[in-house]
Amino acid sequence: MRRAIAWAVGAAGRRLRPPPDPGPPPWPHLYVDPTSYGPFHVAHYQGDAPNEIRVGRYCSIADGVKFFIGGNHRPDWASTYPFRFMLGLPQAGADGHPASNGPILVGNDVWIGENAVILSGVTIGDGAVVGTQAVVTRDVRPYAIVAGNPAREVRRRFPDDQVDALLALRWWDWPAAEIREIVPLLNGAPVGALIDYGKARPGRDPA
Ligand SMILES: CC(C)(COP(=O)(O)OP(=O)(O)OC[C@H]1O[C@@H](n2cnc3c(N)ncnc32)[C@H](O)[C@@H]1OP(=O)(O)O)[C@@H](O)C(=O)NCCC(=O)NCCS
Repeated sequence: MRRAIAWAVGAAGRRLRPPPDPGPPPWPHLYVDPTSYGPFHVAHYQGDAPNEIRVGRYCSIADGVKFFIGGNHRPDWASTYPFRFMLGLPQAGADGHPASNGPILVGNDVWIGENAVILSGVTIGDGAVVGTQAVVTRDVRPYAIVAGNPAREVRRRFPDDQVDALLALRWWDWPAAEIREIVPLLNGAPVGALIDYGKARPGRDPA
């Protein structure tokens, strides 16, 4: 408390601010397709396993989204306190703390809303939407919209037959120049128009 007051008002009565939080160092096992964008804040802790986070093409990640790659204390042990770390004992970080549920996989054309939390071991399917403030603890099926804590499916973006058609098209693998040409089909037209285009599409090479 005394420290907080010292930060707020200096000796001369000037308002002082704590130094900006540099945040955690980048997670070296994060692989994001260059077409996807967002701040990609990865929460990771000393001793976390080198699990990958993979993000596919054309994903939109809003501010404040946090990916937890591990960081789980062990509720199944007698104490959740990380004694080996805190007492500087051998095996710190090699005793099963912190735990992780595995890699995080984000498909293609996924939109994750502001301040959502994605926990380790989760796969988010192609075309899915994650609502703002959601806590994603389980896999999200393709083209589902999920929201809440824990995140639950609210609905699917399109009927199942159209989802199946979109998943068969895999438009995100088409050449970038072609995608540029068909932006009106991707942004604005009824989804059936893209599906019709894809079905009639001459067999161009994938990107
Ligand atoms: C999820 C979202 C995309 C809306 O999806 P939608 O299918 O159109 O959802 P609706 O508005 O029809 O709501 C459907 C239900 O989900 C609930 N819901 C919607 N968003 C929710 C959220 N973020 N958290 C909890 N519940 C939510 C609604 O209350 C509604 O519940 P009900 O059926 O019991 O009334 C939107 O609410 C959202 O969260 N957008 C993210 C915005 C954002 O972060 N933008 C950042 C800029 S990139």
